[in-house]
Amino acid sequence: MQQYDVIIVGAGAAGLMCAIEAGKRGRKTLLLDHANKAGKKILMSGGGRCNFTNMYATPENYLSHNPNFCKSALSRYTPWHFIELVQQHKIAYHEKTLGQLFCDNKSKDILNLLLSECERYNVTIKLKTTIKSINAGFIVDTCMGELRADSVVIATGGLSIPTLGASPFGYKIAEQFDLPVHPTRAGLVPFTLHEHDKQRFADLSGVSQECVVSCNGQRFRESMLFTHRGLSGPAMLQISSYWRPGNTLRINLLPDSDLLALLITAKQDSANQLVKTCLLTYFPKRLLTAMLAEDILAQRLQNCSHKQLETIAHCFTAWEVVPNATEGYRTAEVTLGGVDCDVLSSKTFEVSKVPGLYFIGETLDVSGWLGGYNFQWAWASGWAAGQVA
Ligand code: FDA
Repeated sequence: MQQYDVIIVGAGAAGLMCAIEAGKRGRKTLLLDHANKAGKKILMSGGGRCNFTNMYATPENYLSHNPNFCKSALSRYTPWHFIELVQQHKIAYHEKTLGQLFCDNKSKDILNLLLSECERYNVTIKLKTTIKSINAGFIVDTCMGELRADSVVIATGGLSIPTLGASPFGYKIAEQFDLPVHPTRAGLVPFTLHEHDKQRFADLSGVSQECVVSCNGQRFRESMLFTHRGLSGPAMLQISSYWRPGNTLRINLLPDSDLLALLITAKQDSANQLVKTCLLTYFPKRLLTAMLAEDILAQRLQNCSHKQLETIAHCFTAWEVVPNATEGYRTAEVTLGGVDCDVLSSKTFEVSKVPGLYFIGETLDVSGWLGGYNFQWAWASGWAAGQVA
């Protein structure tokens, strides 16, 4: 039976980083994946340009039942550590917005960086490998036979986008070792609408609008996008991680201005103006017709009472919508919930009651906001486990 110091299951962002660090320490390291390629999500990420980190990542950008857990790893392996690696590999990058760093060229640059570091530190990578079981000890039974390892690191990610290799493997291993797993749900995911709203906003498909969206005490200021199925765009993806079925989203479609004050001034200065003409200064035409009845839009400002102007402003600045659901794991960027962090050391990611067993990356109950935070978590948790596994 082949013996390794460390076997890492899952050659995604976290697994690759962990393998590099373990290899650096001279550990005989094997990285296994059932997919035919390593790092498929890296390749797909950031619209093909991989938003590989966020310069301003802090623990506040993550959701977890244990909000303190991510602090240690994030503070020991910061965005600047990964940026240094990117610079060493002469990968051109830029800040798109809000601290989000993207490759100038292709996501493949990041994957190549990780693969070349793996090669440099003699990590063995075996793809298309099915893992049948992992038993205490550790014996890893695979389609290529049984393997033995001192340490096993589970880096199989979450459930989002099954076509990219996602599986519940990590949760099953946790359950096998009697470790609690928080219920999972899709995060950073578009919303679908109830039929009546879907019809109401059908003509808006493709319209993008800057907004502030809030739900459950969290708010995001980014753009939103109407789609033929519902609501998407960065603002909606962000808030989706905080939304629960039945919750209302409150959306301000004109966050920089006081729309009521603007309407009152317009009424004073151009009383003859139509409500529609006035609002067209701030919103696309298609949005107006979806939000307000034609007779209101056709009214002259001079004929609008203060109460009516308030109602009009309210429609756009405190729009309330209850989504039907989210698009689910099919299109979600992350999986919320996962292996309970309380059973691991936040420093080493080793399971307290199973020495030698580690969980890293998205399999854990730590999920980041949109904007490079999830890769930063993958790098930081993979790096931390790689120092000890
Ligand atoms: P990851 O999912 O990357 O890797 C898990 C690996 O385990 C996969 O290679 C899989 O094949 C393997 N595996 C699963 N089950 C297995 C089994 N049973 N046996 C063997 N192997 C198994 N984040 C960000 O910060 N910036 C961005 O730009 C994007 N963009 C983005 C786009 C899209 C389309 C998605 C879906 C996601 C993103 N993300 C992102 C999120 C980011 O990709 C994600 O959080 C990390 O890839 C998680 O890294 P992990 O290594 O934990 O899991």
